[in-house]
Amino acid sequence: MNSPLVTNVSNTLTDSFGRTVTSLRISITNRCNYDCIYCHHEGDTSSRGEMSVETISNIVHAASKMGVNKVKFSGGEPLIRKDFEDILSSLPKLRDVSATTNGTLLKGRAQDLKDAGLDRVNISLDSLDPKNYKFITNSSQNMLDGVLDGVHSAVDAGLTPVKLNMVLLKGINDNEIYDMLDFTRTYDGQVILQLIELMDFNDVSQYQIDANSVEKDLTARADEVRIRTMHRRKKYIIDGAEVELVRPVDNSEFCANCNRLRVTADGKLKPCLLVNDNLIDVNGMSLEKMPQMLKLAASQRVPYCRN
Ligand code: 5AD
Repeated sequence: MNSPLVTNVSNTLTDSFGRTVTSLRISITNRCNYDCIYCHHEGDTSSRGEMSVETISNIVHAASKMGVNKVKFSGGEPLIRKDFEDILSSLPKLRDVSATTNGTLLKGRAQDLKDAGLDRVNISLDSLDPKNYKFITNSSQNMLDGVLDGVHSAVDAGLTPVKLNMVLLKGINDNEIYDMLDFTRTYDGQVILQLIELMDFNDVSQYQIDANSVEKDLTARADEVRIRTMHRRKKYIIDGAEVELVRPVDNSEFCANCNRLRVTADGKLKPCLLVNDNLIDVNGMSLEKMPQMLKLAASQRVPYCRN
């Protein structure tokens, strides 16, 4: 496959901005048992089909030979797929295999997932207040207790560190940051809080928090602040508990350091959450053809936000 943008001849997935893909974020279904008020649907609201275990396996096997050592599965809700364990067992050895889940289906399945090859989970948990939780997730009944059981199961099964994703919503959960931190503290370092700046997808700008003031407040309370090299994320240690702040909005540094390629639920390679052209369909594709498609997709990546 010849493309003017393919500049590297090596076997890595490098784009023309010098960014090398080392991580895949694979959506395995668009189905979800929630309808969260802010959900970005992984930048894909149109696809309905789902990749087979074989397609997913082929993508990851090819990518792992080209420098990818990290895979994150997402949805929709990935645990809705009953063959998620089969997907996990079909993978080559990788440095880090994780999933982002809402936690509702984790209880009773965490150990099977671990045994099948899952290393750790991110669990979306935006509130510990049942009323707030119900409002945010648009769930018909109170699911919060089940999700908290899911957090327990994940820790018990060793899917650690468990990261709790908390999307900050002004006037809804922004007063719960330190309650959530107290909750993680009960897990003795096995649960990390990840605060996420809201990206405005569903006309939710009224809930946008001021990330600078959150950052200031965390800094003032922190015993220690570390800066992660990837995405220059800040990590705060507060009374022995770890909290990270993820700021993806208008963040050129975030994009400059992006090492990720996305795969939609129906099997299209997608260069960026926020970009919907240049999708490359690899659904049903053989292992032999996969490398050139990955190269093409990687070569077409452009930082969404630049200075
Ligand atoms: N803004 C920020 N993060 C989001 N997520 C989904 N939608 C948004 C959004 N609009 C992330 C959250 C959630 C995961 C499934 O996707 O981290 O936990």
